Amino acid sequence: MRNLLDIMDLSVKELDDLIHTALDISKDPEKYAECCKRKKLATLFFEPSTRTRLSFEAAMYELGGNVIGFSEASSSSVSKGESVADTVKVVSNYADIIAMRHPKDGAALVAIRNAKVPVINAGDGGHHHPTQTLADLLTIYREKGSFEGLTIGLCGDLKYGRTVHSLVYAMSRYEGVKFVFISPEELRFPKYIITDVLDKKGIPYSETASLEDAIPQLDVLYMTRIQRERFEDRDEYERLKDSYVLTTEKLIPAKKDMAVLHPLPRVNEISVAVDDDPRAKYFEQTLNGKYMRMALILKLLGLDGSKEEPKESVKSIFLEGLRCPNNRCISKTEQELKQEFYSVDENKGIYRCIYCDTEVRK
Ligand code: NCD
Repeated sequence: MRNLLDIMDLSVKELDDLIHTALDISKDPEKYAECCKRKKLATLFFEPSTRTRLSFEAAMYELGGNVIGFSEASSSSVSKGESVADTVKVVSNYADIIAMRHPKDGAALVAIRNAKVPVINAGDGGHHHPTQTLADLLTIYREKGSFEGLTIGLCGDLKYGRTVHSLVYAMSRYEGVKFVFISPEELRFPKYIITDVLDKKGIPYSETASLEDAIPQLDVLYMTRIQRERFEDRDEYERLKDSYVLTTEKLIPAKKDMAVLHPLPRVNEISVAVDDDPRAKYFEQTLNGKYMRMALILKLLGLDGSKEEPKESVKSIFLEGLRCPNNRCISKTEQELKQEFYSVDENKGIYRCIYCDTEVRK
């Protein structure tokens, strides 16, 4: 059974196939209108969403299927104290596939381990958001024709913004890609992804606090919202919330064919006047998200004719006494969940939490 926990669950070939299925769906939606007849998608959204939930639901309806679910934790038994594990065990009896969003890092792994049907991670805390990356990839592909050789600027909240984490994993698999991380010091891109992905593969990247300095070299500018709900320190959020505002003036030195992406919702980081610039692609991106989610549902339900590719499982070890230090990790709240870690460097005693990837030392 296939799930989508993070974007690395899909090989480059599978991403390519999804893009081509999505393009085909966009050209001839009628052809796909009955593919999911009698199938049900459950959307379990423990956290607010407009695009992700509604595009999943629209995707399933356009494939001829049905949708059940909830859009806030308060309307489910979670408000009575039910765990993620119990919730998905129950929903597995009612639906053929589950899309789940949860505020805790690592909640999607708990769901995958307990469900009897495929689970799609629709965002787990500040950790991963692979289906947003599918939307991003189709948008970049449509604008640029390929992923190779692109310089991608990621701007805003690179620490808590789960969309940029998944996007860097995905783009790091294409030749000649470079990254420019644009953020305040406090909201820098996670070190563990830099070490695991960029340093390991020798992918060039730079870090700067200045959007103005970075903009002229970029092929894609990916703006993000400062993630208010993930800050433990309110004053820090207040201090950082207006760090970047993309205006029409700031776009003057940018390449004429640079694409501006944003996962949305926008707060104030892109001025509304930019929407009229032909480089603004964020509303197209939301439509691309629906097509990619349609292609993904077909794949995970085994309705696209593709074969399952073998996947290496993460080495897991249970270490008595070690605890994940991340307060936003699902292991802090899920009942009787065992702490599990995988090793990064056993000789130096460096491990990471299997749920949220936070580093722990023994
Ligand atoms: C993003 C998310 O939920 O992480 N939104 C989305 O799914 N399109 C980005 C955000 O909330 O800032």
